[in-house]
Amino acid sequence: MTLLDECFAANRRWAAQTVAEDPNFFNRLVNLQSPDLLWIGCSDSRLPPNEIIGRAPGEVFVHRNVANLVEHTDVNCLSVLQYAVEVLHVKHVIVCGHYGCGGVRAAMSTQPLGLIDNWLRHIRDVHLWNREELAAIQDPELRLDRLAELNVEAQVANVCHTTIVQDAWRRGATLTVHGWIYSLRDGLLRDLGMVIEHPDQIPPEYRLVF
Ligand code: CO
Repeated sequence: MTLLDECFAANRRWAAQTVAEDPNFFNRLVNLQSPDLLWIGCSDSRLPPNEIIGRAPGEVFVHRNVANLVEHTDVNCLSVLQYAVEVLHVKHVIVCGHYGCGGVRAAMSTQPLGLIDNWLRHIRDVHLWNREELAAIQDPELRLDRLAELNVEAQVANVCHTTIVQDAWRRGATLTVHGWIYSLRDGLLRDLGMVIEHPDQIPPEYRLVF
């Protein structure tokens, strides 16, 4: 059996097992999804969001890209954010990075990789803004880990600076933005302690007064 045949076989087993355990499962989800969480994470194959936070299908709206970046001109990411906030009314947006991120590693290297260098440029910006702190870390792996954390913090800020999130707050929606980081070594998430839920928490230069 080829790998792709195995995927279809596994899918049939999963669908049958799901119905066996919960006969109404697909009927319930077919017309409605009502996730409370939007997950913005890295494309890395080792971070399946639903699996690592124990959420069933229907419970997490997901956007993933290389190194979990949120760029204010990325129509793809912004469209996911808008749908999640304005249509699904998610309560939490989680930006989740991870230690050992290949995107962060590549952004710290001088080796050219082609088109993706333009994407990873955003992490080079984060590096530049924090160059003193990062330069003081002797161990290169620890420096990468710290840049991965700083990148999450920068992306959380980027989520909060969007018109989408600021407009939701203005409407009085309950919407909290969080920064988490995942360790491939132990499978555990760490909360970076960012809980942003009000425009007063963002710099005035980014604040929009509607
Ligand atoms: Co990554």
